[in-house]
Amino acid sequence: MDNPYIPRVVRILRIQKETPDIKTFSLECPMDFSCGQFLEVSSFGTGEAPISISSSPGEKFLQISFKRVGCVTEGLFNLKKNDYLGIRGPFGNGFPIEQLESKDIIFIAGGVGLAPLKSLLKFIICAKRIKTGNITLLYGARTAQDMLYKKELEVWAKQIKVLLTVDTPSCGWKGRVGVVTLLLDEIKINSLKTKAILCGPEIMMRFVSAKLIELGVNTADIVLSLERQMKCGMGKCGHCYIADKFTCVDGPVFTRAELDGLVPTEII
Ligand SMILES: Cc1cc2nc3c(=O)[nH]c(=O)nc-3n(C[C@H](O)[C@H](O)[C@H](O)COP(=O)(O)OP(=O)(O)OC[C@H]3O[C@@H](n4cnc5c(N)ncnc54)[C@H](O)[C@@H]3O)c2cc1C
Ligand code: FES
Repeated sequence: MDNPYIPRVVRILRIQKETPDIKTFSLECPMDFSCGQFLEVSSFGTGEAPISISSSPGEKFLQISFKRVGCVTEGLFNLKKNDYLGIRGPFGNGFPIEQLESKDIIFIAGGVGLAPLKSLLKFIICAKRIKTGNITLLYGARTAQDMLYKKELEVWAKQIKVLLTVDTPSCGWKGRVGVVTLLLDEIKINSLKTKAILCGPEIMMRFVSAKLIELGVNTADIVLSLERQMKCGMGKCGHCYIADKFTCVDGPVFTRAELDGLVPTEII
C-alpha cells in the first residue's frame, strides 16, 4: 500500500497566468477524484498547502488554480513549465452531485473560490452527466483584472446565466460594481427546487447564506466549500477541526444546516 504521507512527484505541463497573483497549472497526473475534492500540493523546499482540484473528472489534465498568499503558494508561483511539484490526495468529501439532479443550481463564488466550483460547473454543463434545471453563476472579484477563467466565463455565458461583479471598477470595466450578494437581487429563485453552491472568503459565504435564507432557500440546500488551515488532509493532525468535525475528511463541503449545528453564524 502507498504511504499517503509521501507526495507523488508530477510534472507541470502548462501554466496559465489568470491574474497578477493567480496561476492555473495543468499537471501530468491521471487520477480518479470527485468534484470538490482537494490535493495537498508541495513546492519542494517550501512546504505543502491544500488546493482544490479545478478540472472536472474525465478531463485530459488535472488542474489546480492557486493564489500567491504566502510561502508555499509563492514557491508554487515561481515554478516553470516542465518543473515538478508534489501532490497527495485527492482528499475530502466533494460536492453532493446526486442531490443536484433536476434542481436549479446557483453557483456563487468570490475570488479564487471559483476554482473548486469550476470543476463541478464543467462537470454539469460540459459532461452533461446529470439532468438539472436552470444553472446560474454569480461571481465577484476585487477588480476585473482579478477574475479567474476570463475565456471560460465568456463560453459559459453562452450556455448558462452568468452575472459578474467587481468591488472596484478599473481597466475599463463597464459591468456591475458591488458585492456578490447584490447579484441575488437580479435573479428569480424558486426556493423549493434550488441548490446554492458557494465558495469564497468566509465573510462572503456568511452574507450570501443569510441572503439565500431570507429568499426562502432551505439551509440544507445551501452548500459551502470551506477553506480552513490544514496539515495532514487525512483526519490525523486536528489542524482543521470545527467542533467535532474535521474539515479535511468530513468536508471541505458542508451544508449550511450542518454548519449551523457546529459554529456560531457570526463565524461562517
Ligand atoms: C480544502 C481547501 C482548498 C483550497 N483550495 C484553494 C485553491 O484552489 N486555490 C487557492 O489559491 N487556495 C486554496 N486554498 C487556500 C490555500 O490552502 C491557502 O491559501 C494556502 O494554504 C496558503 O499557504 P501559504 O504557505 O502560501 O501561505 P501561508 O503563509 O500559510 O498564509 C498566508 C496568509 O494566508 C492565511 N491563510 C493561509 N491558509 C488559509 C486558509 N486556508 N484560510 C484562510 N486564510 C489562510 C494565513 O493566515 C496568512 O495570513 C484551499 C484551502 C483549503 C483548506
Ligand atoms: S488537516 Fe489534519 S486533521 Fe484535517
